[in-house]
Amino acid sequence: MKGQLETIYHEGCEAVQKISDLKALEEIRVKILGRKGSLTALLHGLKDLPSEKRAAAGQMANEVKQQLSRLIEKRTVELKNFGWSSDMKQNIDSTLPGRPPEMGRLHILNCTLREIEDIFTAMGFAVVEGPEVETDYYNFESMNFPAEHPARDMHDTFFISDKILLRTHTSPVQMRLMEEQSPPIRAIMPGKTYRVDDDATHSAMFHQVEGLLVDREVSFAELKAVLALFIRRMFGEEAQLRFRPSFFPFTEPSAEVDMTCVKCAGRGCSLCKGTGWMEILGAGMVHPKVLRAGRIDPETYTGFAFGMGVERIAMLKYGIDNIRLFFENDLRFLEQF
Ligand code: DAH
Repeated sequence: MKGQLETIYHEGCEAVQKISDLKALEEIRVKILGRKGSLTALLHGLKDLPSEKRAAAGQMANEVKQQLSRLIEKRTVELKNFGWSSDMKQNIDSTLPGRPPEMGRLHILNCTLREIEDIFTAMGFAVVEGPEVETDYYNFESMNFPAEHPARDMHDTFFISDKILLRTHTSPVQMRLMEEQSPPIRAIMPGKTYRVDDDATHSAMFHQVEGLLVDREVSFAELKAVLALFIRRMFGEEAQLRFRPSFFPFTEPSAEVDMTCVKCAGRGCSLCKGTGWMEILGAGMVHPKVLRAGRIDPETYTGFAFGMGVERIAMLKYGIDNIRLFFENDLRFLEQF
């Protein structure tokens, strides 16, 4: 009896492991555990054993039965999850073309930002980042916006507390960089910026790229050369620049920089309101007070700075007329780029 049970057990285990479809597995189960199965027959034979052997044999037979049942159950689950039963295999048409997975891609703002970064890094600029939650000191005070200065009103600021705010521009990163590094400094500083503002061309969160170059004898002519090269790389060789005098507390002199209209190339159209020009960034020579706050001696060093909006650049380059399109994540919009 013991020998027979062992044979049934080992043969059963081996057969179950080898099986790779559910139908054959069921056949094996019937052959061993079914009504006329080999183990069932043995169990029936127990009653003919002498009583002193019956209990031990019965216990062993039940154990074999339980273990084989468990093994078959486990194998059934495995085959259901990972295997294909033979009738499934017959119904699969392996000549059907596959379904291509939907591919993600970079957001148009990231593409634009990378393009800007590539142009400036090719000119030797480093890429530096700073915090989005700033102190009043870095965002305003150190950039020569004293308390109560009217220029603060142009920045509709999200205050977190009296002295803590969401940065309204990337200019504070200039200050952090000057504190950390002595000239020569040549870096661009991209990142998110925040203002209480919301219409077709303004959103509460937007992106800027700041630029800063500080060294001995840096002049306005170099600022112009760097920006002219940037504009040509970004918008094509025909793109022209012009500087209009302007005011920013942290630069002196300051300028707003226009480029020839991307749509009419300067002839005048509805996009540029007939002027042929479009404003694209702010720039200027770093104010001596700002250099001094950054622990740089303005008698020895001069520098230029500029700041531009990434959304604005992308809108001009791709003819997008509403800033909200960037943030709605409508695939019909995003897929176009
Ligand atoms: N921070 C300015 C703004 O957000 C933009 C700007 C203008 C940055 C002139 C500069 C600059 O670095 O020199 O409106």
